[in-house]
Amino acid sequence: MVYTMYLTREEEAILSGKHGPEYQKAMKALVKLGDALGAEKLVKVVHAHISGISYQNIGDAGLDFLEEYSKVKVRTYTTCNPLGFDMDLWKEMGIPEEFYAKQLRIVGALKRMGVNGTFTCTPYYIRKPLIGEHLAWGESNAVLYANSVCGARTNREGGPSTVFAALVGKVPYMGVHVDENRTPQVLIKVNAPLKDQLYAGVLGYIVGTYVKDKVPLIRNIGRISDDMVKALCAGLGTSSSTPLCFLENISPEIPKMKLKYSELEKIEIDAQSLNDVIEAYGTPNSADAIFLGCPHFSYGEIMEIYRYISKYNRKAKTPIVLVTSRRVFKEVSLHVKLLFERRNVRLIRDTCFAVSPFKYLGMRKVLTNSIKQAYYLSNIHGVKVGLCETKKCIEVAFEEK
Ligand code: F3S
Repeated sequence: MVYTMYLTREEEAILSGKHGPEYQKAMKALVKLGDALGAEKLVKVVHAHISGISYQNIGDAGLDFLEEYSKVKVRTYTTCNPLGFDMDLWKEMGIPEEFYAKQLRIVGALKRMGVNGTFTCTPYYIRKPLIGEHLAWGESNAVLYANSVCGARTNREGGPSTVFAALVGKVPYMGVHVDENRTPQVLIKVNAPLKDQLYAGVLGYIVGTYVKDKVPLIRNIGRISDDMVKALCAGLGTSSSTPLCFLENISPEIPKMKLKYSELEKIEIDAQSLNDVIEAYGTPNSADAIFLGCPHFSYGEIMEIYRYISKYNRKAKTPIVLVTSRRVFKEVSLHVKLLFERRNVRLIRDTCFAVSPFKYLGMRKVLTNSIKQAYYLSNIHGVKVGLCETKKCIEVAFEEK
């Protein structure tokens, strides 16, 4: 193979096939990509996060791909995205046997490769990246969080490239791995209060529609919680391809940057723009289910729901589905889980509605606080989705029908 990128002896050995055909193919793909995009070398990553592992999204082609590479082990710490169902509740969710069997083969392939069985879109709750670390992450919300909040460095990798990076333990040194590309290009001034995750997510979504692949610097968002920052990243990742944004008072690289504000393109976003997006979805007074946990809930968000539902002494009329990772699920006490059960709140893991075979879940109308979940449910699954604040979602669930 002819290439222009600088490779170490070890990298050349992998490329020549000395470590076997799987590593060779993975290395070939990385070198081809790096060469095409002008990378000078490869850089070591400390954490890969494989996206696209739900059988719903990758089908048989994805299953065959993962099984092909499952003969060898990953060479860096690796986590992975959600599956098409909760591994312990698949029957209850109405998942067909065939789907279950194929999803299990995907899980088996990942385990043989040595991938951590996390099945979450919030790998930063599993291992929080450090400033300056190089990563190879898929999953747009996670990429934006890692770059923008942690100051780590990862491009928005696709499903196959995360697998190749995990196997080789390296990625091409390009994009936001490189200092010069970590500079804001658009200045966003926010003239709207961000009341909760819903508004933060919608703000991110609107910013994404303006900036597309450019890097925004978002100012005037106040002291928002980490959960709201997570929602903002998820919204931004939904409507744009940018891997990085700078958030005033949050992004650790801002204090060291020499910014020339006058040279940046400027955009202002007001409260009306946020409301317009929410109103376009609508806030229905009823739904078949309330979905909360996109991106997967933190422990704090689960406890927030616990506090809301503690005020009621009856079962919710509409089931409330909360989604989190296995790691966070374990941290939640039995007392909280039992109250959830009594109030018709299901705390599930490993999955989300958007990446599940939704047609089997028997729902047509869903209410959520997440613009990302709303976007994918309506655009991919054709579901009727309403958007509203977390507290209002709970109130709707408990209202008499
Ligand atoms: Fe995660 Fe599903 Fe949302 S994978 S970011 S909960 S669409």
